[in-house]
Formats: sequence, C-alpha cells, structure tokens
Amino acid sequence: MSEATPQFKVTIDNITIDVPAGTTILNAARMIGGDITPPAMCYYSKLKESGGKCRTCLVEVSKGSEKDPRPMPKLVPSCRTTVMDGMEVKNITSPKVLDARKGIVEFLLLNHPLDCPVCDQAGECDLQDLSYEHGAEGTRYDFPRRTFEKEDIGPYIQLHMTRCILCYRCVFTADALTEKREHGVLERGDHSEISTLLNKSLDNEFIGNVIDVCPVGALTDKTFRFKNRVWFTKPVDAHCTCSKCSGKARLWMRGNEIYRVTARKNKWNEVEEWICNDCRFHKKELKDWVIEGPSVIERTSVISQGHYVRTQPTPVLINKVIGKEPNFLLSIHDVSDVNRPEVSLSKIDGPAHSNDFKHK
Ligand code: SF4
Ligand code: FES
Repeated sequence: MSEATPQFKVTIDNITIDVPAGTTILNAARMIGGDITPPAMCYYSKLKESGGKCRTCLVEVSKGSEKDPRPMPKLVPSCRTTVMDGMEVKNITSPKVLDARKGIVEFLLLNHPLDCPVCDQAGECDLQDLSYEHGAEGTRYDFPRRTFEKEDIGPYIQLHMTRCILCYRCVFTADALTEKREHGVLERGDHSEISTLLNKSLDNEFIGNVIDVCPVGALTDKTFRFKNRVWFTKPVDAHCTCSKCSGKARLWMRGNEIYRVTARKNKWNEVEEWICNDCRFHKKELKDWVIEGPSVIERTSVISQGHYVRTQPTPVLINKVIGKEPNFLLSIHDVSDVNRPEVSLSKIDGPAHSNDFKHK
C-alpha cells in the first residue's frame, strides 16, 4: 500500500492552507486564488521544465519552516520553490516583493516594443496585464531596442522576435509535442533568439499550440492576423469530431463568423488540452463545430468588457490578508479634527468659511 503524501501547512499573505508535500509556493497560492497568487510569465503547469526564467513570481519567505524558522535570505521564485511545513510567505504584503516585481517588469520591457495598438495579442497579453498591475510609469533605458532579421517560420505562425521575452514555453511545448527538437533558443545573452534552426518550417501537426502558450505577441496566428481585436470577439466553447485531437476548442466569434480557433484555457491562462493544426487553422465554418456555449471569462479580463455573459468574479481576499474588514471609504472625521461633523454644510447661509468651523 502506498503511503499517503504528508500535508504541509503554509501561510501566504496571512492565509493558511494545507497542501501536499512537494507543492510549490506558486501552486499553493493558486489553491488559495485571488490577488495573492504571484504572476507567472514562464511557468506553465503542463510543461515539466518550465519556470525559473522570468522572475515575475518572486516572493519573500519570512519563515522557512516550523523546524527552521529562519527567513530565506533572498526573494525566491515561487514556481521553483517547494513549501515546507510551517512556512510563511509574503507576496502582496511584502514591499520588497512589489518593488522587485516593478524592476522585473521594467527589465522585461527593456527590449519589448510598445506596439500594443497593432499587436494581435493586445487584450490577452500577460505582459500587458503585468505592466498595468506592477509596472513603473517610465523606463530608465536609453539604448536602442534589439532588432532581428525577419524569419519565416511557416505558413501558420508569425514570429515577432522583438516581442519575445525568452520564457522558453514554446520550446518546451515543441519538445513535448514532437519527437525531435523543432526549434529552440539560439545564441546567448541579448543575442538570444527563438529559431527553427536552418529556417525549417514548423510543420508538426500540433505545433500551433506554441501560439497559445506564448505569453506575449511573439508567436501569433497568421490566419487571424490583423482581422479583429480580441475584445470585439466572443469566446465560445465548441467541439468537433477530430481524428487527431480531442476536438475541444474555443471559437472566437463575431456574429456567426469564426475569426479564430484556440485551445481552451483555464483561469491561469494555461491550455487545458492541446488541439491540432487542422482544428485551429482550417475549421473556420460554423458547420465544422458543435457549439456548447459561451466560455467562462474572468471578470477582470478585457474580453469581459464586451458585456459578456457568465463572467467569473475574482475572489476578494483583502479582509483575510489584512485580518479585518477594509475601510474602503475613509471618514475624514475619524482621522481629523479639522472639520466638525456637527456643522451641517447645507444649513450654512452662503459659502462655507473657516469661521464656520471654528471651535467655539
Ligand atoms: S516566442 Fe513566446 S513562448 Fe517562445 S520564448 Fe518567446 S515569449 Fe516565450
Ligand atoms: S514564473 Fe517563476 S520564474 Fe517565471
């Protein structure tokens, strides 16, 4: 009989949860959900080797474990650090983490072009969301951004190397889906680039999935290019009979027109099941699909702005994090003696004057 996995107690931003030993801090935070979950630009639960590249998921470990309560000396990547029993972690309650994350966003944006208005990923780009939530207003970088020779990587996938943040997700996806290595990261340092080696087309039947795992607009769908903005399209879950994949996909529609087909994603923006190139690039007619209904969309997503139905509310955890009900509307009278609440402004003749508030 196999032994049951021991459960470890971990506290993240003052919220305690029991998780199986071996769980990473990031996954423990995902079990709690909401704002305390660190952002992740390179980790992808489906891809074994992923994580540890981008540093957006850094957290502070203020207590190592029950046995050894010393804090960890540096911020640690939560996607690569497993919990210990009694561990205490700070994410949004740590000014150090928030400051470091701001620096990381600035770093990721050093070479990333600010071409969101013309980028097909706009509206569903993890880097765009990350920079809205954690970025600084400006950059301190004066040097020209990286440029690359244009490379054609096949009829269906558009590579914009300047937008790539070298998260390696597409490389691990290709490794997972194909028997031989189709493409990889070439060169070193700021010369690193995703390439197909020998400019060979990515012709594997499932290779379209690299588009879905890319957190930015470095890999986009050529059949959808410049056709529509994602927030004008409505995501709908649908399935078809396919001999290559499960046939379970998400259609992005406007009226009765299917603009784009993608894999279905979960609330962490990760693909649930890989779909084949046929379903993704060739089935753009309503007759190809059996519509199941509108996809569930997080309320915070820009896609839900189009009065979309079945949006999912984001859990509100702030009272657990700060240990009391938050005071969203602060009464000035509670904190200041300057005004006198018993003075009713509507009963004063004419405009209020400092004399009206003088203590008698
Ligand atoms: S192309 Fe996209 S998925 Fe691939 S490494 Fe660059 S950012 Fe990551
Ligand atoms: S998500 Fe953890 S380092 Fe990138």
